[in-house]
Amino acid sequence: MAVHADPSASELPVSPLLDVSRLVVEIDTLQGPVRPVDGVDLRIEAGEIFGVVGESGCGKSLTALSILGLLPRPQGRIRSGSIRFEDQDLARLDERDLRRIRGNRIAMIFQEPMTSLNPVLGIGDQVAEALVIHRGLSRRDALAQAIHLLERVGIADARHRAHDFPHRLSGGMRQRVMIAMAMACRPKLLIADEPTTALDVTIQAQVLDLMDDLKAEDGVAVLLITHNFGIVAERAARVAVMYGGVVVEEASTEQLFEQPRHPYTHGLLAAVPQLGRRRDGMRPHPLSEIPGMVPNLARPAPGCAFADRCALRVEACLRERPPLAAVAPGHRVRCHVTGVSAQ
Ligand SMILES: Nc1ncnc2c1ncn2[C@@H]1O[C@H](COP(=O)(O)OP(=O)(O)OP(=O)(O)O)[C@@H](O)[C@H]1O
Ligand code: SF4
Ligand SMILES: [Mg+2]
Repeated sequence: MAVHADPSASELPVSPLLDVSRLVVEIDTLQGPVRPVDGVDLRIEAGEIFGVVGESGCGKSLTALSILGLLPRPQGRIRSGSIRFEDQDLARLDERDLRRIRGNRIAMIFQEPMTSLNPVLGIGDQVAEALVIHRGLSRRDALAQAIHLLERVGIADARHRAHDFPHRLSGGMRQRVMIAMAMACRPKLLIADEPTTALDVTIQAQVLDLMDDLKAEDGVAVLLITHNFGIVAERAARVAVMYGGVVVEEASTEQLFEQPRHPYTHGLLAAVPQLGRRRDGMRPHPLSEIPGMVPNLARPAPGCAFADRCALRVEACLRERPPLAAVAPGHRVRCHVTGVSAQ
């Protein structure tokens, strides 16, 4: 059995659209600095939907905010690592350069659109704004294009609705406006952080369908952050599972559901009964039977962050941090016991 300790050993194309490598985010707290993101690795290909899942507090949003240079200030910062996007390292850009990329080549939508929409500006003008700033369009041309974008995301009678303030729209419609804003400059990457969590199930599906369409028509890659494994199963081509500030498993969606390796992934899948079945009939290790709590940021474990809760733990798990190792082409696992190649 061969272990590929070097994460770069997995056989993915050499130059992904986004390559986050060993990203560490530090945040100052009253108890001192903590590292909620502690060595995250992610690779996203152009035009793919890439899911990120993991329990609350595992560092999903901070990872997304790091990519856009939007960490809370002044207490948060990128401590180390790199974020390669196209030909630049975003972790090393200053605010002026990041502003050129945000809303232009990389756009983001959040769970609650009202926090990002201006309550006293018509939705048409809000969509138009990015086109004026990044594309240098006149207000008039930008508004015409904004109306077209609003139509495209399914806002009926967009010409008239363009003058509405956000509070006149339903939650689903607001999220559509956010997507229209995000897509205005035809970004290469759309970061969607729990974009449908606040919506009811039917509207969720419509908003996700819309993202699927945009991926197909515009070739935009989507980094889709969610608590919901069902959404990942349906929508994502590849997926990363995060735990305690690191990626513990990264694979194609099919690999992850058919052959999950990391004990934490098994636990997550077991919590979703219809997704927990495996071809070989083995029962996944249920997370609910594993004692322990999510990791304490103020007292990081020297070894594996999951060791407290893991039924497969061996002695090395308490001492050494496992590497993210390739176990098969495109499948990486961070585990001393299960992160070994099948070949
Ligand atoms: N401004 C901040 N100051 C201190 N701690 C923070 C701050 N922002 C986030 N954290 C902590 O960092 C950890 C990771 O936060 P993050 O928001 O990335 O989690 P998440 O995976 O997105 O969770 P959720 O699924 O609940 O959105 C959490 O423990 C959180 O409490
Ligand atoms: S490294 Fe050890 S403790 Fe961590 S998930 Fe693997 S077996 Fe469990
Ligand atoms: Mg979050």
